[in-house]
Amino acid sequence: MTSIVLFGPPGAGKGTQAARISSLTGKPQVSTGDMLRAAVASGSDLGSEAKGYMDAGLLVPDGVIIGLISQRLREPDAESGLLLDGYPRTIAQAEALSEVEDVSMVISIEVPDEAIIERIVGRRMDPHDGTIYHIRFNPPPTEAASRVVQREDDNEETVRNRLSAYHEQTAPLADWYQDRGVLVRIDGDRTIGEVGDAIGSAIASMGSRDV
Ligand code: AP5
Repeated sequence: MTSIVLFGPPGAGKGTQAARISSLTGKPQVSTGDMLRAAVASGSDLGSEAKGYMDAGLLVPDGVIIGLISQRLREPDAESGLLLDGYPRTIAQAEALSEVEDVSMVISIEVPDEAIIERIVGRRMDPHDGTIYHIRFNPPPTEAASRVVQREDDNEETVRNRLSAYHEQTAPLADWYQDRGVLVRIDGDRTIGEVGDAIGSAIASMGSRDV
C-alpha cells in the first residue's frame, strides 16, 4: 500500500484541497489536526495532553502522533493507502512512517508567510459538514453564514507560533522527501481553483505509477 502526503505550512490550503485529491486517488483523507481536535472534544486523556500544545501553536510530541497514525493505518479503509494531511511534520515522524508505509507522492503546497496570517485569521468552518471557508477568499453561502465557527488556534499570536514550528521542525522534511524523489512542489499562492488544477495535473502526470 502507498500513501500520499499533503505537506505545507499552516493555512497553505491542505484541508481545502484534500477532498479533490481524495476523489482523484480514492485514498481517504486523514488529518492529524482533525483527529486531535476530535480527541480534545471527546475529553480523552490523549486530547487533554494534546490541547496545551495545540493552543500554544506547538507540535504535539512525536510519540503521541506516531501512535495515533499507526493505529489509523491498521483500519480496513487504509488498506490501499491514505491521503495524510498534516502528517508527518518532523523527521522522526517521517522515519516512523517509512517503516510501516510507502509514500508515493508528497504534495508540498508552498505559500509565503505574509499570505498565511490573512488566510488563517479569516478562516471559518461549517460545523454542519466540516466545509472550510474564508471570509474574503471563499465566503460561506447565506444559509451557512450564521453558523460558521472560528477555530480556537486561529488567532494571530498562535499562528505566528505555528509558523515558527513549521519553519524549525517541518520545513526540513521537504529536502528529506526530495532526496527520496517523491516531492512535488505546488505554488499555493494562487486561487483555490488554480492550485487544485495544478495538483490535479501533477497527479495525472504520475501516469501509470501507483499513486
Ligand atoms: P492542523 O489542523 O493540521 O493545522 P495546520 O497544519 O496548522 O493547517 P491548517 O488546518 O491550519 O491549514 P490548511 O493547510 O489545512 O489550510 P486550509 O485549507 O484550512 O494542526 C493543528 C495543530 O495540531 C498543530 O498546530 C499541532 O499542534 C497539532 N498537530 C497536527 N498534526 C500534527 C503532527 N503531525 N505532529 C505534531 N502536532 C500536530 O486553508 C486555510 C484558509 O485559507 C481557509 O480559510 C481557506 O478557505 C483559505 N484558502 C485555502 N486555499 C486558498 C487559496 N489558494 N487562496 C486563498 N485562500 C485560500
